[in-house]
Amino acid sequence: MKKRLLSGMRPTGPLHLGHLVGALKNWALLQGEYDCFFMVADWHAHMSEYERPGEIRKYTLDNVIDWLSCGMDAQRSTLFVQSHIEEHTELHLLLSNITPLGWLERCPTYKEQLRELKTRDLHTYGFLGYPVLQAADILIYKAQAVPVGQDQLAHLELTREIARRFQHIYKKKVFPEPKGILTETPKLLGIDNRKMSKSYNNFIALSDTPDEVRRKTARMITDPQRIKKSDPGHPPVCNVFSYFKTFKPQAEKEVYLYCTRGEIGCTECKKRLAGVLNEVLAPIRQKREELTKHKSKVLDILKQGGKKAKKACAGTLTEVKKLIGLY
Ligand code: TRP
Ligand code: SF4
Repeated sequence: MKKRLLSGMRPTGPLHLGHLVGALKNWALLQGEYDCFFMVADWHAHMSEYERPGEIRKYTLDNVIDWLSCGMDAQRSTLFVQSHIEEHTELHLLLSNITPLGWLERCPTYKEQLRELKTRDLHTYGFLGYPVLQAADILIYKAQAVPVGQDQLAHLELTREIARRFQHIYKKKVFPEPKGILTETPKLLGIDNRKMSKSYNNFIALSDTPDEVRRKTARMITDPQRIKKSDPGHPPVCNVFSYFKTFKPQAEKEVYLYCTRGEIGCTECKKRLAGVLNEVLAPIRQKREELTKHKSKVLDILKQGGKKAKKACAGTLTEVKKLIGLY
């Protein structure tokens, strides 16, 4: 029997190269080894983006189109939408009852988001409970493995703590302890050298046209000490170079030599990078186009995935309700 794995993404914007190398490539590889559940966390998106319901609706489908274009396979994995499975929200309520406020108020991601996301009012009851819903997502499937980024480890730890508290109060071990899968992924910076993110608008989207990719690549920051082409460059401080390492490792040596010997100018180098990125994106784009034309197919995949997800988690909710004595 394969171990069960669950992960999710919030549909708050277009997916970009950072998602590709940070999550999607991994997810695609994990499909062979685990019984995979991949979820669009639309309720989680609503916890902070409740004033933009249209965006969430749009990106729910759009993100799944990207998943499928990047190798997620509905035959091998269960792809579904969180809000289609009421069990998540029901378990969320039950877990809310036993989660001490202090655990949530102390959560580092909570404090950070309140500080940084000034454009939204996050002082809501729902947003405080964000990690409780995430715990419900994981525990309702009795998932053993959760591939996440570094930033989500605190939520995973909270999930384990909530599971232990549940066990302590109701005297039964219902949930296995979920373990995080942290894969080494290259850190991909945005075109302005800050973390690639929707909020900085510094990303290259999987849906960008070849022309957009060329324009964005041309704006990338390079070695600031380099003025003329003949100045020897310093690849280790150049973001363009790190993109070559990530997206075309075979070219790394060559770019390094050309750059350090002052044999290639940055404009030319960036043009070559755009070519590389467009090569990587071409098959993804092709699948995206195909799927965008057949959105009903995508909806159907999510409907079928929802059925499988429901089957996999309904028993847990029944078990838990019985355990706490609900009629
Ligand atoms: N909070 C996660 C993120 O922002 C998304 C998410 C929701 C998730 N539920 C999950 C991830 C369950 C892993 C497991 O990336
Ligand atoms: Fe960066 Fe390429 Fe310019 Fe060297 S030549 S500094 S690697 S963009």
